[in-house]
Amino acid sequence: MLFESYANSSLQLANRIAMAPMTRCRADHKDAVPNDMIVEYYRQRAAAGLIISEGVPVSDRARGYINTPALWNEAQAAGWQRVTAAVHAAGGRIFAQLWHCGRVAHAALHADGSAPAGVSLKPAATQTMIPGADGKPVPAPCGQPEILSLQEIRGVVAEFAHAARLAMQAGFDGVEIHGANGYLLDQFRCPALNRRNDAYGGALANRYRLLLEVVDAVAAETGPERIAVRQSPYGLGNDMVADPEPLVTYPWLARELNRRGIGFLHIYCQTADWIHDAGHSMMPALRDTFHGALIACGGFKTAASCNAILQRGQADLIAIGKPFISNPDLIERLRRGAPLAKWDTASFYAGGERGYTDYPALEEELALATR
Ligand SMILES: Cc1cc2nc3c(=O)[nH]c(=O)nc-3n(C[C@H](O)[C@H](O)[C@H](O)COP(=O)(O)O)c2cc1C
Repeated sequence: MLFESYANSSLQLANRIAMAPMTRCRADHKDAVPNDMIVEYYRQRAAAGLIISEGVPVSDRARGYINTPALWNEAQAAGWQRVTAAVHAAGGRIFAQLWHCGRVAHAALHADGSAPAGVSLKPAATQTMIPGADGKPVPAPCGQPEILSLQEIRGVVAEFAHAARLAMQAGFDGVEIHGANGYLLDQFRCPALNRRNDAYGGALANRYRLLLEVVDAVAAETGPERIAVRQSPYGLGNDMVADPEPLVTYPWLARELNRRGIGFLHIYCQTADWIHDAGHSMMPALRDTFHGALIACGGFKTAASCNAILQRGQADLIAIGKPFISNPDLIERLRRGAPLAKWDTASFYAGGERGYTDYPALEEELALATR
């Protein structure tokens, strides 16, 4: 099943494997424009049925890490256009992952020194990377957030819509709205963090209001079928607090997205356990409520593990992350049952070509080994 095509009425994908979104910090922080190295990295991985780009900040204040390529101006869109052209020329499809980091940020990352955008005053007890005195990345605790006003919330919705418009202009096949992993939209969902007493806090419909306003504004630019929404049920990354009712929360959102005809719901299992468990209730509950493509992500490393969940009908596509970093030809390796090269964690965010565009394809790797 994994190597069969997938189609909805707007898009056709060559196979059921997506490259999961992965921040790699290879742009220059000042202009945040995708460069040659970034074009080459995505071109190498274009055999994926769908590439979901690294998180792409929708504004300067949306940035939470140093050196992330962004999408709020024409120069950045022109840089991304080179990426999408390279992927398309190699037969691939690519979505831009639209990202607002919210409180997982630091004022030093923002050109105007603005504080991280918060749903509350509680800082994220986690680290980020900011420019040091010489501009090189240095680790720093996340900064003190300021609570977004209603007017600023409207601004955030407009930023997502603007980024979606630029994404279509840049030739992306669609966009993924990053609603997972403890970033801004996930911070609004989280009842332990979101103590707002206005229309954006309290009841579930209020806590998901910002995400759904973003979805509607983005859909006006792209059409609903070209949108993926990412969620991370049970995820505790970036200092999140367990949702008290996950089997209510996520199916509720799935129903709302379904009602809007959204194309893709992307579920990331951070702990890589429950999503592989046929008896777990989350994926069946989402399948019952969402009739677009369900994407499953977290710990998929073999064609057999991917096919198992596809055959259960609990997912339509599988997103794979880390194995794609070290295996540009991952699709071919999975198809042949060939061994996978190991990824080097130290170069994930290190900058430069090493550990980025220099992983060999299988044939080259074998030739190097016998030399
Ligand atoms: C280096 C790295 C960067 C990541 N950046 C992002 C990101 O920008 N957006 C996102 O939604 N997830 C991000 N993730 C999570 C991945 O999309 C994926 O969910 C995770 O790696 C689990 O899949 P895997 O077990 O196949 O690696 C990142 C993961 C890694 C390893």
